[in-house]
Amino acid sequence: MCMVTSSAPRRALVTGASSGIGAATALRLTSEGWQVFAAARRAERLESLAEQEGIIPLVCDVTDVDQVAAVRARITEAGGIDTLINNAGGALGVDTVAEGKLEDWRWMFEVNVLGTLNVTQAFLPMLRAHGEGTVLNLTSTAGVVSYEGGGGYNAAKFGAHGMTGTLRLEEAEHNIRVIEVLPGMVRTEEFTAKRLRGDTAAAEKVYTGVEKPLTAEDIAEVITHAVTLPHHVNLDQIVIRPVAQAAQHKVIRQG
Ligand SMILES: NC(=O)c1ccc[n+]([C@@H]2O[C@H](COP(=O)([O-])OP(=O)(O)OC[C@H]3O[C@@H](n4cnc5c(N)ncnc54)[C@H](OP(=O)(O)O)[C@@H]3O)[C@@H](O)[C@H]2O)c1
Repeated sequence: MCMVTSSAPRRALVTGASSGIGAATALRLTSEGWQVFAAARRAERLESLAEQEGIIPLVCDVTDVDQVAAVRARITEAGGIDTLINNAGGALGVDTVAEGKLEDWRWMFEVNVLGTLNVTQAFLPMLRAHGEGTVLNLTSTAGVVSYEGGGGYNAAKFGAHGMTGTLRLEEAEHNIRVIEVLPGMVRTEEFTAKRLRGDTAAAEKVYTGVEKPLTAEDIAEVITHAVTLPHHVNLDQIVIRPVAQAAQHKVIRQG
């Protein structure tokens, strides 16, 4: 099915590539000579990303089976991929479990867990056929440490974390490397503002006094390193925090 060989340029699908970590990863990989298929729902943002040579935009909702199948058909036609980066995701709300809204939890499970499942299932046959496939899942430190107000995001990312571990065990016999990247506090343009339903002032406060939170480019650099290591080297789990966030509950703030 897939025509990629190990001596050919590397080729990746990056989901959630219209902003933040996904966009930075698409740019970083192409700057290293990769061909990148960049998927997300917002066409206009993908189009401007695709001004960079080497990026092919593909509008797609990762939770939609038919849209993902259409993306797979396009990518198959274009020669396939050896690397899948499941980055699409996000948080909605900071409510307690007692107050959490079912529709917020549903959205978080849909995109972070079921979207990742949907895309992974669609591309596993291609990655198996390639012979040296890589799947990299963006989970979060919220997938391994609970915090007050973490609620549905904790639950969804714990789910994605669990699924990633299972996938590694199941796909090793197909020589598929499964990497999990678990970032802590990353200051991206949209993540916290979306979580706080557009309240940009409240979003700003999350980072107040924090010297150098991580940036999307920091995570993109780590992702690029992990997926370009020789294929037999598997960085199973990469936890990345800024120095100012020594643990989930210990954030150093200046002033
Ligand atoms: N920022 C942080 O502090 C942080 C920390 C740990 C982990 N993470 C994780 O890292 C990943 C990227 O985060 P980020 O900070 O870069 O967030 P972001 O800027 O909000 O980007 C999220 C991306 O996901 C896409 N997306 C959302 N729903 C989608 C869907 N149904 N189908 C396709 N694409 C969808 C969005 O694009 P469209 O809206 O155009 O579809 C966007 O490109 C997420 O999984 C997030 O949970 C972030």
